Amino acid sequence: MCGIVGYVGSEAALGVLVDGLHRLEYRGYDSAGVAVVGDGAIEIEKCAGKVGDLASRVDDSGIAARAATLGIGHTRWATHGAPTGINAHPHSDCTGRIAIVHNGIIENHRSLAAALRERGHDLKSATDSELLAHLLEEGLSEGRSLSEAALEVLGEVEGSVAMVTIDRDDPGRLVAVRRDSPLLVGIGSDSAVVASDIPAILEHTRRVVVMSDGQVAEVGPGEITVFASDGAKVAVEPKEINWDLQSPEKAGYPDFMLKEIHEQPSAIRDTIRGRFEDGKLRLDEVHGDEGFLRNINKIVVVACGTSFHAGMVAKYAIEHWARIPVEIDLASEFRYRDPVLDDKALVVAVSQSGETADTVAACRYAKSLGARVVAVCNVVDSSMAREADAVLYTRAGPEVGVAATKTFTAQMAAMELLALYLAQVRESLSSHEIGEIATELGRIPGLVDANLESWSEQAKRASQSVGRSKDFFFLGRGVGYPVAMEGALKLKEISYLHAEGYAAGEMKHGPIALVEPGVVVVVIATSGHVKAKVLSNMQEMKARGATVLVIANDGDDAAIEEADFAFTVPEVSEMLSPLIDVVPCQLFAYEIALSRGLDVDKPRNLAKTVTVE
Ligand code: F6R
Repeated sequence: MCGIVGYVGSEAALGVLVDGLHRLEYRGYDSAGVAVVGDGAIEIEKCAGKVGDLASRVDDSGIAARAATLGIGHTRWATHGAPTGINAHPHSDCTGRIAIVHNGIIENHRSLAAALRERGHDLKSATDSELLAHLLEEGLSEGRSLSEAALEVLGEVEGSVAMVTIDRDDPGRLVAVRRDSPLLVGIGSDSAVVASDIPAILEHTRRVVVMSDGQVAEVGPGEITVFASDGAKVAVEPKEINWDLQSPEKAGYPDFMLKEIHEQPSAIRDTIRGRFEDGKLRLDEVHGDEGFLRNINKIVVVACGTSFHAGMVAKYAIEHWARIPVEIDLASEFRYRDPVLDDKALVVAVSQSGETADTVAACRYAKSLGARVVAVCNVVDSSMAREADAVLYTRAGPEVGVAATKTFTAQMAAMELLALYLAQVRESLSSHEIGEIATELGRIPGLVDANLESWSEQAKRASQSVGRSKDFFFLGRGVGYPVAMEGALKLKEISYLHAEGYAAGEMKHGPIALVEPGVVVVVIATSGHVKAKVLSNMQEMKARGATVLVIANDGDDAAIEEADFAFTVPEVSEMLSPLIDVVPCQLFAYEIALSRGLDVDKPRNLAKTVTVE
């Protein structure tokens, strides 16, 4: 994530930048900074903390060039490097001639940083972004213009780049670059604002150019010149934004939950980005000591709520691929059950926030028993990240909706990577097998993206037909079981209806007594080695009068025709199927909650971060 903003015009840039950063703070808020071109020099002010902290520093201090009319700003959601003042953006080159702000991830940063150091550059931060300033510096020193140098840099770096840069020697314009991360340019009559999102622009103008992938733009007061990746000029026409500032950070969605459901392809993509390279899993954050990983005697996954369901998927994947026994425990139970752990055990603590009191306590307890702890979390430098011996970050970006959606799919993707990594270290799968699975994992975001609209339509129709029911069961087997658990949790959280997730084979041991006409049963019946058994369980529900909704693979007529209603999903390998199958469940819960007139973003009695035991 991260929010970036740039301004050139006739107003004092500092005010515009700080205001813009406040509006982009939902994108990340661990550190912030601004740079302006003053009297023949670039002045930078940056710090760890929120935009408010930066604003106070800017007010109290620091920057002499208060009337400067060109500048850039950044609010960070750390990926590479802790959220410190040094790692905060803007970053500068060795000469201090330029400054940059960046949103994205540079995948080949290791090799680029090594090469830059070898060529004598002094890299001050632990970020991948700083490299951009030094690469630009080289282009400028060879006589290229800033935009020419930027085009060249775009060719050198792999990964996602939205960058805005300023040049001390050219105080009349800034240069913007975009690939895979959003960047928009608002064109005013005598000013221009570049930003990651509309909120930072609308105050100044409604005429906006949405930059396309691979483009570089020179932006001056009231003007923009855009170049394609081959350097050719591209004609652009600003479009008029005709909505207001009340909810722009929802990017046109009616609520955060739907927006975040739609962000799942990029959450998964960003989580796996750069972690499978040259045919190998690279979990640099986790590797620590491969000798230890080879000799683990067991893994214990601890988590709460939705994160617990991601942990359940991890159990199936780690046992199947890495052949290590895995226990899974609710964090709130773990330390009170006297678990048997020693220094050969690995504890994996899964948490979106990294602040859940039960899971933080479980980490501490596991460490006190001598176990190693890996945290899987979404918030950089959270308590759990600090407690753990290693952290595997999900890169879903801040999640605003209280009911977890995109962080769940990102957690599952991260845990699948962890399982494959363990299989690689312990050689329980061949590199060919690992490569095939990792490649298929890389295809999942595209499949989710391609199906979101049709699942939304199916969810609307399903909610119209069963939305008045009061009792729901979600059933699955194998990796379909955690999906069923999560489907039921989503429905009860946001619609306040009674919903139970069950292992399908367990129904006959008691809960089937509750099944009668009027009860709705959602069956996860996508392909896998237990599918035939799931379909038999589905028949048992039908025979007792339940209304049956099935989640089945496209073209699986046997499953689809037996159900009263079907969500159809593309077929993928069994272990990866939860990444797809859960999305229709989320949309189903969403549509039912909407039909009941409920606030899906802030369901009653819940909190986004649970810091009490
Ligand atoms: C469900 C939900 C909660 C959290 C749980 C753990 O939608 O959001 O069940 O999953 O409170 O929170 P984290 O993952 O922050 O530890």
